[in-house]
Amino acid sequence: MGARGHDGNAGTPVLHWRVMSQLDPRALRRDFPILERTVNGHPLVYLDNAASSQKPRQVVEAMARYYYQHHANVHRGAHTLSVEATDAFEAARARVASLLNAPEARSVVFTRNTTEALNLVAASWGRAHLQEGDEVVVTVAEHHANLVPWHFLKRERGIVIKAVGLTDEHRVDLEALEAALGERTRAVATFHMSNVLGSVNPVRRIADLAHAAGAVLIVDGAQGAPHLPVDVQALDCDFYALSGHKMLGPTGVGALWARASILEGMPPFMGGGEMIRRVSVEDSSYAGIPARFEAGTPPVAEAVGLHAAIDYLEAVGMDAVAAHDAALVRHALARLEAIEGVTLYGPRGEDRGGIVTFTVDGAHPHDVATALDAEGVAIRSGHHCAQPLGKALGASATARASFYLYTTEDEVDRFADALGRTRDFFAAFA
Ligand SMILES: Cc1ncc(COP(=O)(O)O)c(C=O)c1O
Repeated sequence: MGARGHDGNAGTPVLHWRVMSQLDPRALRRDFPILERTVNGHPLVYLDNAASSQKPRQVVEAMARYYYQHHANVHRGAHTLSVEATDAFEAARARVASLLNAPEARSVVFTRNTTEALNLVAASWGRAHLQEGDEVVVTVAEHHANLVPWHFLKRERGIVIKAVGLTDEHRVDLEALEAALGERTRAVATFHMSNVLGSVNPVRRIADLAHAAGAVLIVDGAQGAPHLPVDVQALDCDFYALSGHKMLGPTGVGALWARASILEGMPPFMGGGEMIRRVSVEDSSYAGIPARFEAGTPPVAEAVGLHAAIDYLEAVGMDAVAAHDAALVRHALARLEAIEGVTLYGPRGEDRGGIVTFTVDGAHPHDVATALDAEGVAIRSGHHCAQPLGKALGASATARASFYLYTTEDEVDRFADALGRTRDFFAAFA
């Protein structure tokens, strides 16, 4: 692992990594001070990365440097600080575009998170294009962020939401998806990687099906962008939403990428400063993209942090991140399968990211999470904002361990050992 440095500008850290064929989580952990913590007297094992990742020093330092040296409001001033802040903000936009292999930075809109990005699509594109009886096809495994915004349009417009189920292996049923597409289908909206099943959707195949039916494809990339290489041109999707905080970046910033030709035809999402061309007391006209969708002061420091996070991820390599996740999942599944009374969810195979969701016979998932926390192991329990999926699986609450580039195999073993003890404890009361 090489030394780190900075480029001296408005916030881009430069990592001098050697190209790594394989990721070394132990070396990377040195960049994440929080991972040195103890919890309840045990070294922390942080396995709640699908909810939010931890942040490397490079991200925190980039934001601090921005605030200490460059902060002013963006796009508004002729003075030096405002120009520097604007440059840093626009550089972050270009960095998101390059991460996604997007053809143009101007079709990246900064939002607060994936939720806001998907609300933007439903409220702006949806209102402009959907009439009563038009159909949006989703799957039963969507996060609420990709369901509730469509419910608004169902109430407001009378659109129809069609949900596609899963195969027995917990993959999206592509035959059912194809069958659900019809004359009134205007959009398919689905995840890149499921936050519960860990399954990776064949996005390109779904894009081909959606386009053949004359529909657009909206991808919820909240789990995809942090864990998988993403190329929106190769995926051929029309929208891709992501959250900075799940991919080593700060909270408060996310992004929506959309095909420029589609974005250009969309009305604003919110009104206010920055998104206008001209305003009179009676009326207003709107700016071009992306400014039209970024009313008010944007999350500038957060965008600088996201820029640093993307630099970090790409220095490690998204292929290496995905391969590391997959290796940890294989190991975790093998360990958990050996524990009696543990039920596992999600597909077995290569199309699976770093998430293991399970239940333990005779123990509520919240109790399992509490017992693991007593041993310093942080996992999540509950419905994971995917209640329809819980219903489809017949498990309204589950427990979830989720990994990232700094997770070690030893940590997976500590988790599995603690889960074995937890299971024995509850089995004693059965
Ligand atoms: C698949 C998926 N979609 C959307 C979201 C919402 O992300 P955020 O809360 O950052 O808006 C999440 C968060 O867990 C997610 O996992």
